[in-house]
Amino acid sequence: MPRQLFVTTALPYANGNFHIGHIMEYIQADIWVRHQRMQGNAVDFVCADDAHGAPIMIAAEKAGKTPQQFVADIAAGRKPYLDGFDVAFDNWHSTDAPENHALAQQIYRDLKSAGLITTRVVEQFFDPQKNMFLPDRFIKGECPKCGTRDQYGDNCENCGAVYAPTDLRNPCSALSGATPVLKSSEHFFFQLSDPRCVEFLQHWTQDGRLQPEVANKVKEWFSPRQNADGSTSEGLGDWDISRDAPYFGIEIPDAPGKYFYVWLDAPIGYLASLKNLLARRGEDYDAYMANPALEQYHFIGKDIVTFHTLFWPAMLKFSGRKTPDNVFVHGFLTVNNGEKMSKSRGTGLDPLKYLGLGMNPEWLRYYLAAKLNGRNEDIDFNAEDFMLRVNSDLVGKFVNIASRAVKFLPAGKLVACDADGSLQQEAARLLATVQGCYESRDYARALREVMGFADTVNTRFDAAAPWKLVKEGKTDQAAVACAACIEMFKVLTACLKPVLPALAAQAETFLRSPALDWSNAGTPLGDGHQVGAYSHLMQRVEMAQLESLFEAPLPEVTPPTLPGGEAIAPTITIDDFAKIDLRIARIENCEAVDGSTKLLRLTLDVGEGRMRNVFSGIASAYAPQDLIGKLTVMVANLAPRKMKFGISEGMVLAASDADEKARPGIHVLEPSTGAQPGMRVR
Ligand code: 2FM
Ligand code: ZN
Repeated sequence: MPRQLFVTTALPYANGNFHIGHIMEYIQADIWVRHQRMQGNAVDFVCADDAHGAPIMIAAEKAGKTPQQFVADIAAGRKPYLDGFDVAFDNWHSTDAPENHALAQQIYRDLKSAGLITTRVVEQFFDPQKNMFLPDRFIKGECPKCGTRDQYGDNCENCGAVYAPTDLRNPCSALSGATPVLKSSEHFFFQLSDPRCVEFLQHWTQDGRLQPEVANKVKEWFSPRQNADGSTSEGLGDWDISRDAPYFGIEIPDAPGKYFYVWLDAPIGYLASLKNLLARRGEDYDAYMANPALEQYHFIGKDIVTFHTLFWPAMLKFSGRKTPDNVFVHGFLTVNNGEKMSKSRGTGLDPLKYLGLGMNPEWLRYYLAAKLNGRNEDIDFNAEDFMLRVNSDLVGKFVNIASRAVKFLPAGKLVACDADGSLQQEAARLLATVQGCYESRDYARALREVMGFADTVNTRFDAAAPWKLVKEGKTDQAAVACAACIEMFKVLTACLKPVLPALAAQAETFLRSPALDWSNAGTPLGDGHQVGAYSHLMQRVEMAQLESLFEAPLPEVTPPTLPGGEAIAPTITIDDFAKIDLRIARIENCEAVDGSTKLLRLTLDVGEGRMRNVFSGIASAYAPQDLIGKLTVMVANLAPRKMKFGISEGMVLAASDADEKARPGIHVLEPSTGAQPGMRVR
């Protein structure tokens, strides 16, 4: 029976671009999801922007935007990262979406009916100039212990003391500089200390589902304990779930001026994103959730375990909903031996810079997978180690098998090569082990097994020495040895497919194999199977690429802003520009795209003796027949992109205003008379 899985990663705050830590989590989850799909299981894999909270509200104000606009602008930048690293979420949504408002309010009402919501008066720092309560992060002052100035409201960076914001000496608001005053207001609490919650959570967290290291940590939270600052805690305390206006969040029903604390509605965003996905597919959310066989998993970092192992399961349980089957916790990612990331020294790993340098995203997927073992340990990205692993494992071991063996296969035809069935047995053993490793998220071990097997295959190839056999006229023997290698290359391809989907797709094309999954990976291609032409499957990592990746960025100059409102992009060198091959193209044909209101399908002649198919988002501005016969400029060396409607082999240049709503219009570029298709634009 195929399983039905609902899988999420943590929802990133919509106040900045992704950093490499986000990408690592997405890759970890994406590998697991791809493995599940190869198993034949049905998976819905979703994420969303975590839109609410005071920091985002304040950042939006600083940027001169509404929080909604601020969050939308961040959301608009997500795609290049996700597409770039092949992270195949089925849906990306927002915690500020209507589904989430409705779900959060309903869950709150259900918890209230269960008798688990209470109110209490809380005294907190209030900024009298900004007229708002201040989150701890926005209160600064002198450390009560060592006297260091300019410390945040929760702990001292100098001496490490942990304290309450009210302990700070000479506190001041980081927003206005005003001296905060203490003010009381009513807060809403989720009564986690209720014996029903405690009993449920003790069981849920200690029944063996959680990673042992996580379960042990969580266990401490149930008993009275001494805190770092010398104070004591009583076990599970009630959770403050409300914030006072002004706040960017979801209103609490029947409580004017009160909003849910961002962490109340954030995980509900998992459900909202799923609900949105199902609605778009025409499926019923309630029926989906009511399926007793449904399994729900959340991939998260070790910093947000409390929310996911206490608050979230309890919220779901006592609002009468399905509780998560598990949360999978990973550690942090450090870069180059944990050096602190510093902008000026540029030791961080910027994911977009990585892609922009033309570095293969699958190198990073492979390297991270080789380090992830399913526990919540921190891992380090080390540049030299990265180059070594990728070059020696992927290029030197895996790809090498195909490139060497195919040379001695007469006419690319496989021959019978497993008379006693031992190869098939070996393959079956490897496949079973590797699947088990993926299931338990021990990708490091999966890849060790795979590379160990690749070593064996290469050793056998060397021992058989088909190049010698061919010289001695024993082409049949050479073909047998090489067919065995190709058969095993196919098995290895399947094993690597969750980590390296693009490389696996190329290998499948070369092998002319069916799309590989766990059910067919062990079936030999067989005697007489014709493989395709081999073209090199993967480039090696160059040291120069890593040097550029970690090169300190040039000092930032604030780019001038144009009247249209869009800032000039950061400076590039002439070499950067030379990478873009712009050509004159003739629009031989142009037609509407069935099922898209935005796109036109262009057939372009760039003087290559063949036509290019390009989709362009210009349907709002042009009728197809108006473009036919015109000359324009296209990016001719853009990697082909697979779109819903087919493959797009380039991009046509057009001008538009950044604020499309205020100043609509799209203007396709046209060269002056005399330009011919194929001419380079420089
Ligand atoms: O820690 C964070 O980045 C949070 N935005 C994660 C939220 S996960 C979920 F609960 F939405
Ligand atoms: Zn201090």
